[in-house]
Amino acid sequence: MNDFKDKVVYQIYPKSFMDSNGDGFGDLKGVTAKLDYLADLGVDYLWLTPFFSSPQRDNGYDVADYRAIDPRYGTMEDLEELIREADKRGIGLMLDMVFNHTSTEHAWFQRALAGEKKYQDYYIFKNGTPDNLPTNWVSKFGGPAWQYVPQLGKWYLHLFDVTQADLNWENPAVREEMADILRFWKAKGIKGFRFDVVNLISKPEVYEDDFAGDGRRFYTDGRNVHKYLKELVAAGGIDGMVTVGEMSSTSLENCIGYTAAGNHELSMCFNFHHLKVDYKNGDKWALMPADHLALKKLFQTWQEGMQAHDGWNALFWCNHDQPRAVSRFGSDTAYWKESAKMLATAIHFMRGTPYIYQGEELGMTNPHFTSIDQYRDVESLNYYNILRGEGKSEAETLDIIAQRSRDNGRTPMQWDASANAGFTTGTPWIGTADNYQTINAAAEMDDPDSVRSFYKTLVHLRKQHKVISEGKIEFLFPENADLLAYRRYGAPDGEELLVLCNLTAHEVPVTLPEGWAGTEKLLGNYTEMAAALRPYECTVLKK
Ligand code: GLC
Repeated sequence: MNDFKDKVVYQIYPKSFMDSNGDGFGDLKGVTAKLDYLADLGVDYLWLTPFFSSPQRDNGYDVADYRAIDPRYGTMEDLEELIREADKRGIGLMLDMVFNHTSTEHAWFQRALAGEKKYQDYYIFKNGTPDNLPTNWVSKFGGPAWQYVPQLGKWYLHLFDVTQADLNWENPAVREEMADILRFWKAKGIKGFRFDVVNLISKPEVYEDDFAGDGRRFYTDGRNVHKYLKELVAAGGIDGMVTVGEMSSTSLENCIGYTAAGNHELSMCFNFHHLKVDYKNGDKWALMPADHLALKKLFQTWQEGMQAHDGWNALFWCNHDQPRAVSRFGSDTAYWKESAKMLATAIHFMRGTPYIYQGEELGMTNPHFTSIDQYRDVESLNYYNILRGEGKSEAETLDIIAQRSRDNGRTPMQWDASANAGFTTGTPWIGTADNYQTINAAAEMDDPDSVRSFYKTLVHLRKQHKVISEGKIEFLFPENADLLAYRRYGAPDGEELLVLCNLTAHEVPVTLPEGWAGTEKLLGNYTEMAAALRPYECTVLKK
C-alpha cells in the first residue's frame, strides 16, 4: 500500500471548474477539456467532489442517487470519456462518497416517508412528539439536528442540512448498499475514493443530551467506526486503492487506526485541527488572527505522531469548504506571490500526500464579497441569519462571512483574462473574484516565476527526491512562532532536507542548525539568500 506516498492529488469542484455548455455551471466535459492542463502540472489523481444526482441543496453532498450522474454535470458517457482520457495521461479518478447521509430526495428516504419499515431502518428515526426533540444536538449547519415528520410521528437525525438525513450504519443492509456502490464505481475504472465525514457514521447506542457541547462527542469516531470501515473496504473490494477519509473533529489516535497499513481501513486522513487556529474559542464564526504557535504545534503533533505509528496524513490548506489559504494565512496584497509559494512549500515537504485544490496552484484568493446576495452556500446563508439574529450588525456579519464562508473556495476557476475568467460563456452560478485579469492560468503557465510554475516544481521534486515521500520528519525551533522549520532525513537515497518558512510579513532572523551552513538551496521564493528570512520567505536546503 505504498503507492500513494509519492503521488499528488488535485481536487476538482466540478461546479466551478470549467463549464463546457454555457449554462454557468461547470461540468464533466469541462474537466475532460482541461486534462492537458492537469497533466502538465504533473498530478497523479483527481478527486472530484460529488456530481451524482442531487437536488444540490449542499452542492451535491446531498445525494439522491449514488449511481446516476446529475444532468447538470453531464452523462455517464461523459464520465466514461473522462476516465478514459485521464487514464491516457496516467491520471486516476477518485470519487467522493457521501455515505454518512443521503438527500431526503433519495428513493430510500422517500420510501421511509411513505411508511416502509425497511427503509425507515435505513435512517435514524425516533418516535416522539413535535414539542420534544430526541436530543439537544446541533446541526453542523446551524439549528437543531432533528426534524419532525408529522405523518410518521417521528423525528429524523440530520447532522448537516435538514435535507441530508443521516444513515443508520447499525443496519447491515445499509452497509451492504454502500459496499455495492463502491463495487459499481470500481468496475467503471475509478481508481480511488474520498469518504465524506466518514468518522461520523457510527452513532451511539443511546441518544442523550449533550450539556457540554453540540453532541459531536457522542458520534465522532464512534464506537463501531473502525469495524465498519474495515468491513466496507473488504466488501467493496477497495483494499489497496487510494482512499482518503474526511475526519471531522477527529483524534490522532483514531487517525492512526484509520490509516496504519496493517489495519486495512484507509490510505490517509484529512483532519482539520490546523484549520481552526484562527477560530476564537473554537468558534468558526468568531474571528481571530491565526495563532502560529498553535499551528506549528498541531503540525508537529500530527506529523510526528502519525510517523511514530505508521499512520499517513493528507496534506492540505485548501478545499471546497475552506477560505483560500493565501488570503487566510498569507497576504493577498503586498506579498501575494511570496506567501502563496511559502504556504505551498510548508506542506508539500511534510510527510504525507499533498492535495492541491483547484486554483490554489494559481494563488487564487478569497473574492471579498460585500453583499449577502453574492453568497450561495447553505451554511453561509444560515449563519448570516444566525449572526444577525444574535444582534451583530450587517457590516460585522458580512465581514465574518467574507472571511469564513465556504464560498470563498467555490468561485470559478480563473483560466484567463476573458469575461468570467474563461470559466463560462454564460452567467456563472457564483461570481468570480475581481482579480482574475491578473491571477489566471493563461498568465501563469509560461511564467517561470509564477505560483503555478512553483507548484509544478513541487510536484516534480516529490518524484525526484525520495526523502520527500519516504523520509522521516523532525520539527525544529518549536518555540519560534514566526518560523516553521523541519528536517527530512532517513530515506534510502541518504539525502536530507531542511525546510524553513517565515509565516509572517516581517523579517525573521534564523541561525541554521549545525551542518547546514553552505549547503545547496533546492528551492525558495526569493532569488538571493539573505541573513534573515524576508516576509513569507521559504527556503529548502539539501545535503
Ligand atoms: C463535508 C463536505 C462538505 C459537506 C459536508 C456534508 O464536510 O466536504 O462540503 O457540506 O461534508 O456532506
